[in-house]
Amino acid sequence: MLLPIPQVLSAEQVAYFRDRLAHGAWADGRITAGYQSAQAKDNAQLPENDPVARELGGIILEALARNATFFSAALPQRIYPPLFNRYSGGQSFGFHVDNAIRYDRSQGGAEPVRTDLSATLFLNAPEDYDGGELMIEDTYGMQRVKLQAGDMVLYPGTSLHRVTPVTRGERLASFFWIQSLLREDAQRRLMFELDTSIRRLTQDVPEHPALVQLTGVYHNLLRRWADT
Ligand code: NI
Repeated sequence: MLLPIPQVLSAEQVAYFRDRLAHGAWADGRITAGYQSAQAKDNAQLPENDPVARELGGIILEALARNATFFSAALPQRIYPPLFNRYSGGQSFGFHVDNAIRYDRSQGGAEPVRTDLSATLFLNAPEDYDGGELMIEDTYGMQRVKLQAGDMVLYPGTSLHRVTPVTRGERLASFFWIQSLLREDAQRRLMFELDTSIRRLTQDVPEHPALVQLTGVYHNLLRRWADT
């Protein structure tokens, strides 16, 4: 399931991020790439332990903790601390699949995070740059994603994807991965659709007795499938 989530960050937050990132210690993006993807990757990135990346990543995690759509779609178990990248001057990232496991070293150890979902949070407006589309190979074909500043896309970590060359301006984004309680995309999609319909019914017919039963089905499926 490929899901855009609008306005994860407010316009004020995006402006603050842009200001902070302008003074970031940008480095070659290959620092976090696996062997194969390093061949395809050409961008700039903030190092994982960069204080600006840590601070802004914390703001993103707080925003996600309040975002019901994110929670319902991702059913997050662990979130890899958000990273930041920048493309300009024709830079791009060719087709690749993200590494299956990333090691989160932010707490001193090396906590494995299975990358069930990938997320890209756009930090500048689509009209600020040409190119820089995130192309994702989905079961419905190739999807082109280029969202408003503050919007985020969630997609299965299993997907082949690339970023097309940025031929004018610069593209700033945050990207990270989520280990979900549900490893399989098909299960996450079913639970997201079930939860969305329960929420609609709760608004429209809040007193209907079958809602309690339906909510029970949701939790009993989650109990059966969740991997904690
Ligand atoms: Ni990737």
